Amino acid sequence: MSRHFDGKKLVVASHNLGKVREIFDLLAPFGIETVSAGDLGLPEPEETGDSFRANAELKALAAAKGANLPALADDSGLCVDILNGAPGIYSARWAGPTKDFAFAMEKLRRSILEAGTHDNRAHFICGLALAWPDGHVEYFEGRVDGELTWPPRGEKGFGYDPMFIAEGHDITFGEMDPDVKHGLSHRAHAFTQLVDACFKG
Ligand code: IMP
Repeated sequence: MSRHFDGKKLVVASHNLGKVREIFDLLAPFGIETVSAGDLGLPEPEETGDSFRANAELKALAAAKGANLPALADDSGLCVDILNGAPGIYSARWAGPTKDFAFAMEKLRRSILEAGTHDNRAHFICGLALAWPDGHVEYFEGRVDGELTWPPRGEKGFGYDPMFIAEGHDITFGEMDPDVKHGLSHRAHAFTQLVDACFKG
């Protein structure tokens, strides 16, 4: 049995504005007051974990303890089968300090070519951790499978979206209407589990 969230206020443990906005929107229907870790002036912990779960949990726990409030963190990334799951938890780091995703996508394309294969299978993972100041954590993980395409297409998404085509679709996440993407993405799957376990009833 998961612990139920029965507070009024929740910290979103991220300093990434795009992510914070997306999480605020997803939580809005539950009447929960949300505040970001950045707005509270909390420091951003270093992502030293070796899995999505470890990084999501360390970010959520740091914010929950720092703010003395429950906190929700997201750790996500793109995993390419032929690259043994890379870039995975390093997805953001592949884009470098300037967050240049055109560069990161080119690097990905080169790595796949060097692997000498036509296997383009990949998936996105989203790990969500909800932590309380007493150290309790609930964790949920969502996944969406698909394949990579080249050249990148579409301006609507972020990160690796222009290279990713979800199973059963023929346009990239970058070309897809955000409402449609949010209905089938890794983040949507993780959120459904979180909401069912901790916010309903
Ligand atoms: P994090 O802040 O370490 O969780 O970084 C996640 C990184 O994974 C982002 O910077 C993106 O590069 C990538 N990523 C995660 N989710 C998505 C998505 O929905 N579309 C495209 N890229 C994503």
